[in-house]
Amino acid sequence: MLKTEDNELLTRTGPGTPMGEMFRRYWIPVLKSDELLSDGEPKRIKILGEDLLAFRDTDGKVGLVDEKCPHRGTSLSLGNNSGCGLTCIYHGWKFNTQGECIDLPSEPKDSKLKKGIHLKAYETTEKNGIVWGYLGPKEHQPPFPDFYWMNLADSRLVSERVWQECNYLQVMENDLDYVHAAFLHKALQKQNIKDGLLSSKLGINPDHPLVKNPPVKQAVETTSYGKRCIAVGSEDETTDVFMEIHYIFPFYTYPPRMKGEDGMWHAFIPRDDHSTWSWDVQFAHYSEIDAEAQRERRGILVDEQFRKLNNMMNNYKQNRELMTYANYSGIEGIANQDHAVTETMGPIVDRSREHLGTSDLPIIQMRRMLLDNVKAHMREEPTIRLQDSPLGKLYSCGLTGPKGRKWSEVIPLDGEFVYKDGSFTEETEGPHSYEKV
Ligand code: FES
Ligand SMILES: [Fe+2]
Repeated sequence: MLKTEDNELLTRTGPGTPMGEMFRRYWIPVLKSDELLSDGEPKRIKILGEDLLAFRDTDGKVGLVDEKCPHRGTSLSLGNNSGCGLTCIYHGWKFNTQGECIDLPSEPKDSKLKKGIHLKAYETTEKNGIVWGYLGPKEHQPPFPDFYWMNLADSRLVSERVWQECNYLQVMENDLDYVHAAFLHKALQKQNIKDGLLSSKLGINPDHPLVKNPPVKQAVETTSYGKRCIAVGSEDETTDVFMEIHYIFPFYTYPPRMKGEDGMWHAFIPRDDHSTWSWDVQFAHYSEIDAEAQRERRGILVDEQFRKLNNMMNNYKQNRELMTYANYSGIEGIANQDHAVTETMGPIVDRSREHLGTSDLPIIQMRRMLLDNVKAHMREEPTIRLQDSPLGKLYSCGLTGPKGRKWSEVIPLDGEFVYKDGSFTEETEGPHSYEKV
């Protein structure tokens, strides 16, 4: 349970909010590179409550700018993208990717007005077919993060973004929730699942460690990048299974995967307070990824705005017949299952009314880290610096081990990720507003 004011602090991310301002100091995936063609149509994209526009100019440079023209506010999404700039169709004002006004034909040639006109423009960079943006103050811009999958060939990656109809926090909480997999994602019968895939579109096999024998024992440790959440499950009388989820501050995760399975990375970027850009990158460690099979098992179908075709309005196409023999949820597509349970909570879940159990430990810890950091940010103290961690080495990988051994021995944290006392420590905060679990 959370106090209402803490729930507000955690979930409000628009301009000027403490969480929104802290999030702006981290790199954000914005859209796929192939959504933008040189001199092609500009794309509207809302992020952290800001109406933005992305476009690719004649030279291939990407601009991430305010959607509204600084003259009288017409949407530049209607603009003409050519000659290394975007021209407003109302009075012809033209802007480059840096937001500089490069033509102002509605004023006399000797007008000084042009010099003082600037279209808000954010820093961008492209990596692995994704355009990233930095929306924070220039002086606080961190180095671009080096995630593990960024070092793999493009043929081993498949990435998707989708508009999810609820606040980012309940989506991210779902990702740290080991125990939901054993219910929501359970296939009722063993299926023939392709090598490397976690599941079919129905769900995860009933003998998979994530599904078998719930509840698992859990632990959470603070690391240099955020939290490592451990689950220890029972495989059989002699063997335990040790799984991990990485929460990389403030909105990236690696959900659990066993050795031999393709990996998954997520980013949950607030679109506004009531919707989220949910990004996933699936990656095959050693061979080409079966992109088609991965897309099919996730089952997300979207329209041109990246809104889902299976959604709350059609009950995610839940089929109650399936619940009798095929899967626990009656919903096809493992990502649809996640979207159904998080979106039906409502746009922002009221955490003053929840009842947390021991299975919610990683969620409690993640919230606490976000709250502690945002309060540090409000005091103008530093928050977690991802540049201090060798993120290129980090991904989730589950193992089996002899029963009864400690998780910290079987699946130890790489020494380079051990949390060291820095200028910010969680213990500096006062009493937490969490219900004891
Ligand atoms: S509103 Fe854009 S040029 Fe006038
Ligand atoms: Fe899930």
